[in-house]
Amino acid sequence: FDDYKKVYSKIADSLEAGEYDDGSYGPVLIRLAWHASGTYDAKTNTGGSSGATMRFHPEAGHGANNGLDVARNVLEPIHAQFPWISYGDLWTLAGVCAVQEMGGPTIKWRPGRADADASACTPDGRLPDGSKGSDHVRDIFYRMGFNDQEIVALAGAHALGRCHTSRSGYDGPWTFAPTYLTNDYFTLLLNDKWHWKKWDGPAQYEDDKTKSLMMLPADMALVKDKNFKKYVEKYAKSQDAFFEDFAMAFGKLLELGVSFKPGQEYWEF
Ligand code: HEM
Repeated sequence: FDDYKKVYSKIADSLEAGEYDDGSYGPVLIRLAWHASGTYDAKTNTGGSSGATMRFHPEAGHGANNGLDVARNVLEPIHAQFPWISYGDLWTLAGVCAVQEMGGPTIKWRPGRADADASACTPDGRLPDGSKGSDHVRDIFYRMGFNDQEIVALAGAHALGRCHTSRSGYDGPWTFAPTYLTNDYFTLLLNDKWHWKKWDGPAQYEDDKTKSLMMLPADMALVKDKNFKKYVEKYAKSQDAFFEDFAMAFGKLLELGVSFKPGQEYWEF
């Protein structure tokens, strides 16, 4: 555990990002952990964070992973310093660290991911497409083994970070404090008025009031769909409820497809 604690504190030190984005690598590290894990297919038990196959082509070149080289590069010197840790463990621990250091809940985590080679790369299309609606979002997350409540809780990570035209084509942050995890994503989604942004880029929403925030069509699906909206309302009302459910769902996400030792305990950093 002490060795992993050293890795954790190195990651925490490296979050500070100076001129980069909003001053933190935290959001892009969370996105790396999520995209490494969210390739999981429960039926075939393929994909997931074991393997860290995003290091290789073709997976590194999948459109959904644009820009995640930034996150991988932040972690590379840490891997060089602690070469015994697998990339899958390093990337997911970085996700845990980023959530916690940005004010989020404690995420239970344990090591056990083994690196694989390029032959284990997952096919393109396993990660969600922001331009689509609730049917697509359900297809993607049900495939991983999540339910509606978990989907909405996980989406609350969009309180953090921003879209980049050079990566996804979309532009801007979802909240006013994109390096601090709060339930703001839900309160804004529910209470603000949104209109289609007028621009040359892909269809996205913009808030009426400040025209500085954004929502993807897939975000808006969470208030258009009755069963999703129920949970948006719950999390808008209570940050504690959001944190509790987010911690469970994010912890589960990071373990999809990973086999642990029987009875292997969780660690908290
Ligand atoms: C960023 C889509 C779910 C965490 C983004 C971006 C898109 C996107 C298009 C912008 C990428 C860029 O241009 O840099 C979606 C869709 C989802 C989804 C369609 C599901 C319907 C999630 C989940 C998490 C997550 C489950 C984590 C639990 C993030 C974070 C960023 C981000 C932290 C900001 C990255 C940065 O600032 O560089 N997402 N996402 N997303 N996503 Fe998601």
